[in-house]
Amino acid sequence: MDFHLDEEHRMVRDSAREYAERVLAPNAARWDAEERFPEEALAEAAAAGFMGLTVPEEYGGAGMGNLHSAVLLEELNAVDASVGVTLSVHLSLVCAPIAKHGTEEQKREWLPKLAAGEVLGAYSLTEPQAGSDAAAIRCRAERVDGGWKLTGTKAWVTSGTHAGLFVLYAVTDPDAKKGYGITAFLVTPDSEGFAVGKKEEKLGIRASSTTELVLEDVFVPDERVLGTVDQGFKIALETLDGGRIGIASQAVGIHRACLEASLRYSEERVQFGRPIGDFQAIAWKLADMATALDASRLLVHRAAWMRDQGLPCTMECSMAKLFASRACNQAAQDAVQIHGGAGYTKEFPVERFYRDARITEIYEGATDIQRLVVSRNLKKRK
Ligand code: CAA
Repeated sequence: MDFHLDEEHRMVRDSAREYAERVLAPNAARWDAEERFPEEALAEAAAAGFMGLTVPEEYGGAGMGNLHSAVLLEELNAVDASVGVTLSVHLSLVCAPIAKHGTEEQKREWLPKLAAGEVLGAYSLTEPQAGSDAAAIRCRAERVDGGWKLTGTKAWVTSGTHAGLFVLYAVTDPDAKKGYGITAFLVTPDSEGFAVGKKEEKLGIRASSTTELVLEDVFVPDERVLGTVDQGFKIALETLDGGRIGIASQAVGIHRACLEASLRYSEERVQFGRPIGDFQAIAWKLADMATALDASRLLVHRAAWMRDQGLPCTMECSMAKLFASRACNQAAQDAVQIHGGAGYTKEFPVERFYRDARITEIYEGATDIQRLVVSRNLKKRK
């Protein structure tokens, strides 16, 4: 067993760190304040090869795996969680299922554009009445000549305003038992009847775009069905296993940023004649933050490694997200506390980290859904 990243992983880490410092760090706070989608940062991410990191080489990507992606996403999220989630969704929830379940034509049509960053990907499962209970979606796909007509409303779609391709789930057989009768479709925003609805105003990850989608008789040809008709719910959940590694990596990145900022501040800030880091009350918080960060990263890397090996890892992906997101929120809380009043202002970045951390326990399966997945899998593996 070897706990070191190999040379290729270190290369990804170093180029992601260079990009994050050069492109994201000078702008992240402003983009957050202005709620501005950072198109230029995504163009630079594409130029650096990040948009196609995990896309197979024959379709224009770098052919790397989940562990590379976890390393990339930690670096991006340590500086800008809005860009972090945008990339995470693009890679894990769009490129990955197309590479895995797409037909040869679909792969040839979409993967090179996604890898080059010409097209940004979005994933659309959730609906206003179907969040944690994802199988309860109602967006309806009716059979018509040569394809399907989709009607319904989707919610909480990351990159809704800017995506050129949506992996969108709709009900093809309303009489099927729960979890069946759902199909994955590749939908483009230029389709007649497709509209991007309300853009959410959010507490954190404010430079990412999160929207509703409204579909009214949107025609999707048979060639744009992803995977098998009526079997899309399994694709949705299997895809989310990988997505949860991405969000867990996001939590690791934000957590690390909280620790680094707190270490800095605790050395600079003097009270009672000493840097506050000399006081046990602060030093122990820092020690706990650092220990939990390592535990989170190890869980994330294990889940990513297992997925790269093709091993069953639904439980490990959920464990990583469950633990890393909670640890990240504790770290963000402690970071603000260590900074005191300063941490409550926009002059210090921990205020933004605190707001961004919150979402990691909510999307791609809230904390209690991860517990549900872990507990069900414990029973299955008995
Ligand atoms: N991989 C493949 N198949 C899976 C699976 C997985 N990880 N998990 C379950 N399945 C299979 C099951 O075996 C079952 O099939 P069989 O009946 O043949 O055995 C079928 O899928 C249905 O599974 P469940 O019975 O477990 O389904 P459920 O209705 O009880 O729901 C759930 C399970 C875990 C609660 C699921 O609904 C869930 O994960 N909910 C959370 C939704 C979520 O994460 N949404 C994220 C939205 S995307 C987002 O946030 C992205 C973004 O933009 C940032």
